[in-house]
Formats: sequence, C-alpha cells, structure tokens
Amino acid sequence: MKMINIIDKKRNGTELNDDEIQFFVDGVVNDTIPDYQISALLMAIYFQGMTKSERSSLTMKMMQSGEHLDLTSIPGIKVDKHSTGGVGDKVSLPLAAMVAATGIPVPMISGRGLGHTGGTLDKLEAIPGYQVEISEQAFLKQVSQEGLAIIGATKNIAPADKRIYSLRDVTDTVDSIPLIASSIMSKKIASGTDALVIDVKTGSGAFMKTLDKSIELAQALVEIGKSVGMKCIAVISDMNQPLGNKIGNALEIEESIDLLKGQGPADLKELVLTLGSYMVVLGEKANNFDEAKELLKDTITSGKALERFRALIKAQKGDTRVIEDYTVMPQAKYRIPLIAQKSGVISEIEADEVGIASMMLGGGRQKTDDQLDYAVGIELHKKIGDTIHEGEPILTIYSDQKNVDEVKQLLTNNIKISDHAEKPQMIYQIIK
Ligand code: URA
Repeated sequence: MKMINIIDKKRNGTELNDDEIQFFVDGVVNDTIPDYQISALLMAIYFQGMTKSERSSLTMKMMQSGEHLDLTSIPGIKVDKHSTGGVGDKVSLPLAAMVAATGIPVPMISGRGLGHTGGTLDKLEAIPGYQVEISEQAFLKQVSQEGLAIIGATKNIAPADKRIYSLRDVTDTVDSIPLIASSIMSKKIASGTDALVIDVKTGSGAFMKTLDKSIELAQALVEIGKSVGMKCIAVISDMNQPLGNKIGNALEIEESIDLLKGQGPADLKELVLTLGSYMVVLGEKANNFDEAKELLKDTITSGKALERFRALIKAQKGDTRVIEDYTVMPQAKYRIPLIAQKSGVISEIEADEVGIASMMLGGGRQKTDDQLDYAVGIELHKKIGDTIHEGEPILTIYSDQKNVDEVKQLLTNNIKISDHAEKPQMIYQIIK
C-alpha cells in the first residue's frame, strides 16, 4: 500500500476502507509516513469529509494506537463528561461531585489548558497539594471508595492523535468535524467509561461558531460512541460569552465551591444541572431528566455534593481547608476594576478574547511548558443582557502586576454596550 494512493483517493472524494485507515494510523505512530503526507491527507479530509464508517474506523484505529484503561473492577455504570472547550468552563468540578453524590462512579480523565481555554487539571492544581498524577491502581481504588477522581491520563492514550493534532494545529485543519470527533472519541473510548455526556459548545468562543455545525459535530460524536456500545448524549450549550462570572484557576475553584454551597451564577448552575441530569439518567439512578434534576438539587441542599468535593481533594492530597477559606489558594496582589464609559446594556463579551486576557495575566499558557500564575484572572460583574451605568465596574482584573493597560485595552475592545440586548439561552439542543 502507498500513502500517495490513499491521499489521491480521499482527495477525489472516494471512501477509504479499513485497511487504508489502519495503514495511515500505523504510519503516523511508527513514523513511517512523513509530516507532509499526513498533512496532505488531513487537508483532503478537511475538504471531502468522512463517511460514518470512515469516522468510526479512524476513531477505533486511533484508540487502538495506544493503551486503554480497564474500569471493570469498579462496580456500577461509570459515567464521564467531556466538553469541547470554553472560557470559564469549570463545570467538571461541581458536576463530578454532584453526580458522585447520587451514587454514580465518576472516573474523570481531564486535560490542561492551552491558549484561551483553561484546563480542569490546572484549576485543581490551584488547590495547594492537589495531585493530578496518580497511579492507575490508586485511581481505580479512589473511584471505588470515594465515588470520584479527577486526574491526568495515566497511560499512553491514543498516541496517533497527539501527532495528528499537532499537525492539524499548524495546517489549519483543526475545525474539521470528522477529525475533531475521532480525536475526542478515541481518547474517551480508551478511558474505559461506560457512558458519556458531551458538552458541545456553540458560539463565538467555541470551535463551532454556528448552531448547524455544532449539531453536526454533536451527531458525529454520539454516533461514534453508540457504534462501540457507549451510552452517549450530547448537550449543545452557549459559548457566546464566558461561562459563569470567574475566569482564572483559583477564581474558578472558588466559583465551583460556591455552586456546591448553593450559591454561584445562574448560567453555570443551569448547565451543570442539565449535563448532570443526563449523566444521572445514563447512570440509571433516575428514570427521567426531571427526576434526575431533583436528585442533583438535593445533593446541594443536603451538603452531600460538597462532602464529595472535600473527599476528592483529600484523596488527591489537596488542602481541604480551601472549602471554607479560599485564601489558602494563591491570591493576586492587585484587583483592578474596568469601568464602563457609558450607560446601556451589555451586548457582547467575546469569550475567547477574555480567555486571552486571562492568559496575558499569566493564568493560561501560550506554549505547553509555560508556568501558570494560579491567582490571576477576571471576574465579570455583568453578563450579556445586564444593564450597566456609566462609572460602574464591568469587571475586576486580578493581577500580580500593577500595569494592566494592555489587558484593559483588549477587554474594552471586546465588550460592547448597546441600547438593548437579550440574554443568550444556555441550552440549545440535546442530541441522543
Ligand atoms: N478536543 C480534542 O481532544 N480534539 C480535537 O480535535 C478538538 C478538541
């Protein structure tokens, strides 16, 4: 078999067979196919797309390119959540605790942030002592005993995806539905979960900017999951502005704990309850969405979810005092308000630019080896649809440097005040 023939076939819009996809993935992992040929095929896939059977085949071959976790020693239906990524998206933290409090085992394998999006592992590391790297054995034991764990990958998961993703990044082929779907699902299938709820973001701060594209991606993800017997539901949620009010590692831990204490912003609560309810239904602890939602609300009022979060931090060697005292986490030296220059209604808060502003403060990474400043970030006092008066603070910048002129300029350019704006809806569609 020759790689040039595979490229030619895809370029001309012909379906690739299993053997050809296997040849490609083997060549990616064994380094027998050069970057330029991999890139050429990726571009051909970008323009020609992939059939259902090609997508499933690529996903399975990428999954099989590495190791996978065996969770069968943990009793019960294991349920995980995945998000396609957004700004201020701290959902995994309160969600894992709430779902675990209903008796469903939640084995979460999370990632780190890069560019404008944050990562769950980075947020957890804002809690002094929290260990994201634990052995597979300890992970299995913790999920069995405590009901939840949030860790980084313990194994060499989908190595083909690592090489393909880095080439997609530099060849402008990231936003291809079959490539995104196979990348996400190969890793999720390798993580061994029985059921998965996927939060597909839509809007200006998301991979998929339009609802139609988001639906297409959600359908591809759910279809691949189901093709391997995984129970799968996708929720399409808003990313036209940051989620919740706080962006930054320690700040997002604070907001997550607030939520578990029955406080926290309404948009975050709505999304957590929606994703969580579908997790509880898939985990068979409730017969329908409404019953599941009541169960989840009870985990907050009873304090059981907060107790699960405390148990998670304790099991992973973090400082549990953080639950009562947020100042055990790094604190920013300066709190600098951004003042509204006119009155009106907030009509735009560009999520990715707010993420970049947080990264410029030191809260995110430009390169994978950048060190993070856990204390810094942004707290929004107003969201889209809120009224604001001239002279009022729109947001507060948490910084370790006094001079934040560049960050202020970026934020000012990306927050608009108009005469009228509607609050965007949080949940757009459910794909089952
Ligand atoms: N997340 C992934 O893991 N892969 C993609 O291609 C996009 C988002």
